[in-house]
Amino acid sequence: AEIVIVENAEKAGALVADEIARLIASRPDTVLGLATGSTPLPVYAALRTRLADQDVSKVRAFALDEYVGIDPAHPESYRSVISREVVEPLGLTPELVHVPNGAVDGIEHAGDDYEAKIKAAGGIDLQILGIGTDGHIGFNEPGSSFASQTRVKTLTERTREDNARFFDSIDDVPRHCITQGLGTILEARHLVLLAFGEGKARAVAEAVEGPMSAFMPASAVQLHPHVTVVVDEAAASQLK
Ligand code: F6R
Repeated sequence: AEIVIVENAEKAGALVADEIARLIASRPDTVLGLATGSTPLPVYAALRTRLADQDVSKVRAFALDEYVGIDPAHPESYRSVISREVVEPLGLTPELVHVPNGAVDGIEHAGDDYEAKIKAAGGIDLQILGIGTDGHIGFNEPGSSFASQTRVKTLTERTREDNARFFDSIDDVPRHCITQGLGTILEARHLVLLAFGEGKARAVAEAVEGPMSAFMPASAVQLHPHVTVVVDEAAASQLK
């Protein structure tokens, strides 16, 4: 992986947004892979200015994951977050931006449906990734197969605690999610993994330098030929 250490999250956002703007300029129907959570927000913020004068009406996108059983209209459903943070501010075409369907009704084929949509789009050009403190990417928690495809997973207690800040209480954090698999993520043409802060340092070091293991799902990125890791000093602090 190429490791880029930046001064702060804002600089990271600018760097990645520049790359995405270049991609869209050369291919107006670029397929983006979108992460939610706090980490990618500086990228989305920087894209507002970068893309202001560009035609983005043909840009396509796929989110990494969604909670199972959450009302899509709930402000913290990833459908809502992607609309609020990405689709609306950047002026993307809503029909071209996909989020896995977390509705309980039909959940048994929601993963396969999502895989089919990604394939029909010709695959993801650039996948933005955050990393969980337990080493997950997407919501592929420790123990996930490197070959996994989009499917339902159970969130670890650690992840539910980490994400409780978005809800009124931890009891409101859903227990299950539907997430692109590690195998799905590895099929994207370029992976951009972002991490900021001391709390991510161990996961970053183990993902990039540690032995590959299903118990450190992010270590799957070592199998990918084109990975860019963008971190601040704190998140890089345990790299050798
Ligand atoms: C979000 C996702 C997760 C997050 C990770 C880090 O779509 O797939 O892997 O990237 O949980 O979350 P933050 O960025 O909130 O620290």
